[in-house]
Amino acid sequence: MDKNKSDLVRKTFEEVFGAEGDIRSYFAPGRVNLIGEHTDYNGGHVFPCALTIGTYGCARKRKDRKLRFYSINFKHLKVLESSIDDFVYNKKLGWINYPIGVMWAFKERGFEMDCGMDIMVLGTIPNGSGLSSSASIEVITGYMLKDMYGFDVSNQDLALIGQFSENNYNGVNCGIMDQFAIAMGKADNAIFLDTATLDYEYAPIKLEGAKIVIACSNKKRGLGDSKYNDRRRECETALAQLQKKLDIKSLGELTEEEFEANQDLIPGSVFRRRARHAVYENQRTVKAVEALKANDIETFGKLMNESHISLRDDYEVTGRELDVLVEAAWKQEGVIGSRMTGAGFGGCTVSIVKDDYVESFIEKVGNAYKARIGYRADFYVVDIGDGPMRVDEA
Ligand code: GLA
Repeated sequence: MDKNKSDLVRKTFEEVFGAEGDIRSYFAPGRVNLIGEHTDYNGGHVFPCALTIGTYGCARKRKDRKLRFYSINFKHLKVLESSIDDFVYNKKLGWINYPIGVMWAFKERGFEMDCGMDIMVLGTIPNGSGLSSSASIEVITGYMLKDMYGFDVSNQDLALIGQFSENNYNGVNCGIMDQFAIAMGKADNAIFLDTATLDYEYAPIKLEGAKIVIACSNKKRGLGDSKYNDRRRECETALAQLQKKLDIKSLGELTEEEFEANQDLIPGSVFRRRARHAVYENQRTVKAVEALKANDIETFGKLMNESHISLRDDYEVTGRELDVLVEAAWKQEGVIGSRMTGAGFGGCTVSIVKDDYVESFIEKVGNAYKARIGYRADFYVVDIGDGPMRVDEA
């Protein structure tokens, strides 16, 4: 959380919407997933953490039922308007479908806003990077509503409400990982979450002598969301075949051995490979967290690398840009592990790099990427931050 950014949002709020009344300031982080990819809609485990970059926001209640939004990232859009009587998805409204979706989801749960509001935001998460800028907007909106209207919901509820709005208002069939990682974030800890039960545990990330480096491919996700929904359907099809013999509710219930013994039930190599990824990635995530607890960061890194290979070959969600970044990372000295993170099809990679090599890593991987892809990648050395918060509270 950067106080200067928060002050900028407040100042811009006053310029655009006026300085009077009870204006409150908030922050919600972005997230990076360390391991456990495409497991959250398969009843498996994930291991994400919240970042110190995210979404800054200011809000004030209105006397009427209007909603007014302004994003400092999209100044050219000026003030966008809607109303609390008009919770209907409208593609033309662009990014404000996310906060409005959350307001709608609260209403579905019986929490009705009795007046409108003015909202100003500034995001420091690169757009379309796979670091969950949309889940961050959802969670900050939920946190604002909870604080300003006194809605009695927990942070875990904010995650579920955010996911519900994204699934049912914005039509992306995402799992719970992003919203959970953001709503439940804790500085210096990753969250080991069982997505089948929502049981979770914080695991301290003590990377003595190493840093988390994110490389953003700058390849925007275009078809990403529809391919994402395709992968979900492919896993559901594979699961349905396995259920003809096995009494399981999700692919996350299977060990590697059980999968190997029963994979012939799944006709077609594509469906089989999708299911194999879901099963092995879940088991890898459990093993990675065990390794981390035993301070065995080398094994953690190897499992990250295996995760990428499985996402590349079995799940087929990496694409050339992410493969070039990761394969260049693997060749560098001081790299403990590197993989794509998030949904894939563009977006970012996450690497763990020893302190002394971070600078040369950024230079060499950056050069290799530019030479092969033709445009640059951006690098961020990140810290693990807290979940959503009120910024201006005494
Ligand atoms: C996106 C989704 C998450 C998760 C990841 C892949 O970030 O929003 O729910 O499925 O992709 O692990």
